[in-house]
Amino acid sequence: MLSEHLAAEAGWELASTELKRFPDGESYVRVVSPLEKKDVVIVSATFPDSNIIETLLLHDAVVRRKPNSVRLLVPYYGYQRQDKLFKEGESVSAEVIAGILDNRFDEILTVDLHAEGVSKYIRNTKTKNFVASPQIAKYFRKRKIDTVISPDGGLRAVEYAKIAAKEIGCDYDYFLKERIDSTNVKLYPKKVDVKDKTVLIVDDIIATGSSMIAAMKRLKELGAKRIFAGCTHGLFTGNALPKLRELADEVISTDTIETEASAVSVAPLILEHLLELRA
Ligand code: R5P
Repeated sequence: MLSEHLAAEAGWELASTELKRFPDGESYVRVVSPLEKKDVVIVSATFPDSNIIETLLLHDAVVRRKPNSVRLLVPYYGYQRQDKLFKEGESVSAEVIAGILDNRFDEILTVDLHAEGVSKYIRNTKTKNFVASPQIAKYFRKRKIDTVISPDGGLRAVEYAKIAAKEIGCDYDYFLKERIDSTNVKLYPKKVDVKDKTVLIVDDIIATGSSMIAAMKRLKELGAKRIFAGCTHGLFTGNALPKLRELADEVISTDTIETEASAVSVAPLILEHLLELRA
């Protein structure tokens, strides 16, 4: 687990907690370890829904232990995709979740927020967002990648691929994607030069896998020799992971969401920041 990993790497105490659910589904949280005058980092996601409540209860339990500071590390920030009104009558869920977290912590740490807009809703608390694509790139360096591809032409997606390519020291390119609905995407027939090449596709999130699958199929049509795929947040809904594995040589994610594909840890990124604060 990321919290265990962080504590072990830094040589910090991993506070003991009791987390359970009452028979009716309500959360119970207890922080067993004394935390008086300590600098505390709570590692807790806002996904799935039940973790939002758990995060708030953990915060309350920690604060009652009178620590020196309380930071929140949200490895995967749920509800960030709805960061504005797309249709009349919707809720801006990113703003709602930000409002719940704001004014409680000394700092909120996030990893690869999907949209810039999300942190602007956390109005009164310091925030820091970490980019994980260099970690993914480091993992794939040994595969002799020729080109990094983004399945999406959006600015952030292309930047994500560019950072990975820089880390590997190779080219990058991107496809142009249109999302039809939550499980279907269409790639425009843009040509990328991948014939006989070893390609790494990177994305911030793999959810249904439809973006990656469309990109992998197109890369195969264009003659790519080997295809690797890496993302920060591996949601892998339904049978996304086996479907992706049929098409790619390897599919991995980081440990912001722990799955069997979590081959890369974001702990070093977070640790560097936390150690700087202590210096
Ligand atoms: C979209 O803009 C994101 O960067 C990801 O490409 C998207 O969330 C992936 O979703 P899926 O795996 O369902 O295509």
